[in-house]
Amino acid sequence: MEPIIAARNLKKIYRMGNAKIHALDGVDINIMPGEICAIVGTSGSGKSTLLSLLAGLEHPTSGKIFIKKKPTYKMNEKELVDFRLQHIGFVFQSFNLMPTMSAAENVALPLMFRGVSRQKRLKAAKKLLVEMGLKQQLNNLPNQLSGGQQQRVSIARAIIAQPEIIFADEPTGNLDSVTATQIMDIMCDAAKKRGATLLFVTHDPEKAEYADQIIHIIDGKVAKREVRSEQIDAKTIIEAELGTQGEN
Ligand SMILES: Nc1ncnc2c1ncn2[C@@H]1O[C@H](COP(=O)(O)OP(=O)(O)O)[C@@H](O)[C@H]1O
Ligand SMILES: [Mg+2]
Repeated sequence: MEPIIAARNLKKIYRMGNAKIHALDGVDINIMPGEICAIVGTSGSGKSTLLSLLAGLEHPTSGKIFIKKKPTYKMNEKELVDFRLQHIGFVFQSFNLMPTMSAAENVALPLMFRGVSRQKRLKAAKKLLVEMGLKQQLNNLPNQLSGGQQQRVSIARAIIAQPEIIFADEPTGNLDSVTATQIMDIMCDAAKKRGATLLFVTHDPEKAEYADQIIHIIDGKVAKREVRSEQIDAKTIIEAELGTQGEN
């Protein structure tokens, strides 16, 4: 098995006036298909930077990233936009729903970009929202939903187009602890059920318990990696790491 997400010696330096901030300082990671991976670290450690580089939202200062064996670090903006549409779903801490669109319309949005007709995409969106326990809220606007309900809508939006990879940056950061647990259950179940790879960022060690692999980030470096899944053993990952990673 080969990693679906691989990064080699990833560095990101931000310039603030004369100061250089080494947000990521030589990160190597391997994430296997179907894996749930948690990126854990304190505020400012570089978690969001890592996620946005892996998702192709920002370019690394140096280093290599391969998603599905494709060297995304070499892609231009248009190629990255297409790649994300095809393969990646996002869940954000602040939900990022369109305020003037209903729950169902928000969930249907990724299908619009794939050219699915309005009727078909709304039908699919409603079906998914009903599965997520939001039957009564299909036509509500985001401001007519609780935080937990908004995050369920945003998870539905992230998975409706069947992406192989889901990225989530502090998905429960704005939720109370009971709702946060529900959202973690829903998000991880949705990923597992679809065989999708899920990479989520958290500063809460308790949330990392959901993961097959936990990557601890301190000061832009991988400080520790815990592999907890039975199927995905450390040997496989280390072999994959040592294997030559083709660039084509
Ligand atoms: N766009 C940016 N410009 C300058 N510095 C940034 C930028 N984004 C992040 N940083 C800095 O990089 C470091 C890592 O930030 P971040 O990845 O957001 O950490 P985390 O998500 O773990 O809280 C921090 O010191 C932060 O201030
Ligand atoms: Mg962050």
